[in-house]
Amino acid sequence: MAKIKTSFVCQECGYESLKWLGKCPDCGAWNSMVEEVKTQATNKVPNILGVNPPKCIVNIQSGEHERYDTGIEELNRVLGKGLVRGSLTLISGAPGIGKSTLLLQSSNNIAEKHGKVLYVSGEESEEQIKMRADRLNIKSSNLYILSETNLDSIQQQIDEINPVFVIIDSIQTLFKASITSAPGSVSQVRECANEIMRLGKTKNISFFIVAHVTKQGELAGPRVLEHMVDTVLSFEGQRTDEFRILRTVKNRFGTTSEIGVFEMKEEGLEQISNPSKVFLEETSFNQEGSIVIGIMEGSRPILVEIQALVSETKAVMPRRTAVGIDTSRLNLILAVLEKKLKIPFYNCDVYVNVVGGLNIEGTFGDLGLALALISSAKGREVKLDKMIAVGEIGLTGEVRPVSFADRIVNEASKMGFNNIVIPERNIPKVKNNGIKSIGVTTLREAVNKVFSAQ
Ligand SMILES: Nc1ncnc2c1ncn2[C@@H]1O[C@H](COP(=O)(O)OP(=O)(O)OP(=O)(O)O)[C@@H](O)[C@H]1O
Ligand SMILES: [Mg+2]
Repeated sequence: MAKIKTSFVCQECGYESLKWLGKCPDCGAWNSMVEEVKTQATNKVPNILGVNPPKCIVNIQSGEHERYDTGIEELNRVLGKGLVRGSLTLISGAPGIGKSTLLLQSSNNIAEKHGKVLYVSGEESEEQIKMRADRLNIKSSNLYILSETNLDSIQQQIDEINPVFVIIDSIQTLFKASITSAPGSVSQVRECANEIMRLGKTKNISFFIVAHVTKQGELAGPRVLEHMVDTVLSFEGQRTDEFRILRTVKNRFGTTSEIGVFEMKEEGLEQISNPSKVFLEETSFNQEGSIVIGIMEGSRPILVEIQALVSETKAVMPRRTAVGIDTSRLNLILAVLEKKLKIPFYNCDVYVNVVGGLNIEGTFGDLGLALALISSAKGREVKLDKMIAVGEIGLTGEVRPVSFADRIVNEASKMGFNNIVIPERNIPKVKNNGIKSIGVTTLREAVNKVFSAQ
């Protein structure tokens, strides 16, 4: 008989204590400790690889991962050229963002090309999924739908059907009967994920697990889940906006800097292979406070419009609101502008928005953001025709070079831009292909070259 063990687990962070505590000592959450009873056997992490003597690294055969084509290029890209056989992937995102839609579409494609696929839903009935499938025009005879939440029954069905790909929608609805705590609790999520990992690795089945996020956008459940899986994807975007961005947070089989861009339509998610085109669709050039910038998302250059609105305020604490850009980056640029160009922002509310719902990371957009802020604050318009800006800004007001400037210049030229303001040190590496490159070394020089004299 396995021994029974009782402990209290924080539902926010997974901290475990032998006695009940009002406040979690780890994450500081109040009333988050819940009693969990488990058998000692379930406490152990199963040895998924079996008993194996160590091998010398030079004697181990290396091999390429076998990958499935998901039929969706944008998804293949974020996974690193397709879904690796036997891999475990976690996908998280806000409610209604389109997780089930994306997975149903890709499972249909995999079912048509590679073998049986089992879509397990604990949230929707078979009829509900069928309705969505009809809307998405999904009809592979190799795609099986199972509405089930008991992991042991799911396991039985997997043994019977023998699929190559299984989707669990979502991990928070699953439960193992041997654990007494409710579905979605830290120990259920952890144990179910462990079991799925073991199943995937021993049977060489690829698994996709859907996980919910908290209001703050964090993964609901223990963080240990992210360590366990091979790949973590995050599906982002505004529900009101039709664009959706799929981002890699972690990937054991590829880079984490790639993004996939989709548009939500009635017939499902449509991939957007040329994001610059859609992000710039409604851009009107030479508008006050608007600058187009070039950034690199993984191996792909993307052009996107950045808008700034600076308006005077009498408030003691002026507002700093940034959508799509890190607020600390915005504050840094504002400080450089105040100090180096003597432009006051202390009495102004500042709003910044990246058009299209893209979240910009990195420093590619610094120069463009600074120019958009100056344009709005001073009411100055860009004098250069169809211009884009790229460059990092240093604390001394210098414009620093960026990597892959040549690719951004190429993309700008392809998209019909006439002028690109780039760091002087990037100039030697870029080819002149129908677009005028304007090199700058400081922010002041950029302002003089971009705006007409007042
Ligand atoms: N008929 C329709 N036409 C266009 N878009 C639709 C239609 N029906 C649903 N959608 C879109 O699909 C989204 C829901 O997709 P989906 O169910 O895949 O999301 P989800 O991330 O799985 O949500 P949940 O967290 O609730 O499981 C809706 O928010 C809406 O944008
Ligand atoms: Mg769903």
